[in-house]
Amino acid sequence: MAGKQKVHNVTLLPGDGIGPEVTSAARKVVAAAGVIVDWEIMDAGAGAIEKHGTTLPDETIASIKKNKIGLKGPITTPIGEGFTSVNVGLRKTLDLYANIRPVRSAMGISIHHKPIDLVIFRENTEDLYSGMENDIAPGVAQSLKIITEKASTRIAKAAFEWAIEKGRHTVHAVHKANIMKKSDGLFLDSVRKVAIKYPDITYKEIIVDNCAMQMVMHPEQFDVMVLGNLYGDIISDLAAGLVGGLGVVPGANIAENIAVFESVHGSAPDIAGKGIANPLATILSANMMLRYMGYGKDADRVQAATVLFLSEKKHLTPDMGGNATTDEMVEALIAKIKLLR
Ligand code: NAI
Repeated sequence: MAGKQKVHNVTLLPGDGIGPEVTSAARKVVAAAGVIVDWEIMDAGAGAIEKHGTTLPDETIASIKKNKIGLKGPITTPIGEGFTSVNVGLRKTLDLYANIRPVRSAMGISIHHKPIDLVIFRENTEDLYSGMENDIAPGVAQSLKIITEKASTRIAKAAFEWAIEKGRHTVHAVHKANIMKKSDGLFLDSVRKVAIKYPDITYKEIIVDNCAMQMVMHPEQFDVMVLGNLYGDIISDLAAGLVGGLGVVPGANIAENIAVFESVHGSAPDIAGKGIANPLATILSANMMLRYMGYGKDADRVQAATVLFLSEKKHLTPDMGGNATTDEMVEALIAKIKLLR
């Protein structure tokens, strides 16, 4: 109990769109879990431009580097012309190389009849997200897909280490090395070299298009998955769709000694400001943060309360088929957390 009295400094990026709504909900749940956090609220995204003249101010980066832990709301990246992605900038600047996304049907709202309990390890710093694009001739554009041995090796190591630590059995490497022989070939070679060092873990490889189909038909076969940046992004949204949607899948971006937690979903401009955003994905991201900070028992309680809350199928937001507001959902969840205390 003594540890509970410690005050933790955490950087909070409320973000754009529904970001402020869902991060505010997560803060309430962290408080209800009994963990004392002093939130350092920093700007990033479209809202930061007027005040700082940039979408990713130096002060924001400095705050995360100082506190070493951040909770982040989604940030809008306009399509086509406009500023470059804050998300990509943040991940590259802080070298948040591992994007970890656990996807489970345990919440009882899965639309798939088969049990799903998989964890996606998405490389977060390179691939087609390197932002190296050119117009090379009128009507011809080019995007560079950068894959390095260093980045592929460390995301593979992160996946295998996690598999060992959590008692998982299988790691799938997802690729398209049959076509992109150089880039995905290097990714695959690098993962293979890591896999050899973990003989207790079954190592499998799957081509990304087949992976998409297998995920829909037989998702139960996947345990830990390691993917490049683009495939990881797409496959994790697909996986989210199988277990109840983007509103319920959390995520963590991990560097050597810094971690920024955020949901898989975006800023949902279509529902921003309406008070109906599903806060669960951000709440569960904050719960991953509590585990990372060493509050495993408190995180277990929030998890159990979430399952209990969902099992009653009451106070759900519209994306889950209900008509509750974000605030009503959070209040109902907090009541369950208190019940389990
Ligand atoms: P999105 O995830 O924001 O929305 C897709 C659909 O899911 C929308 O219909 C939205 O209303 C719904 N949705 C998403 N989260 C929800 C929630 N918590 N509760 C209820 N419904 C929810 O994806 P979209 O529209 O492709 O992207 C919007 C913006 O977000 C873009 O600018 C994109 O770049 C950005 N984005 C940011 C991310 C981040 O900051 N990590 C991740 C993904 C997208």
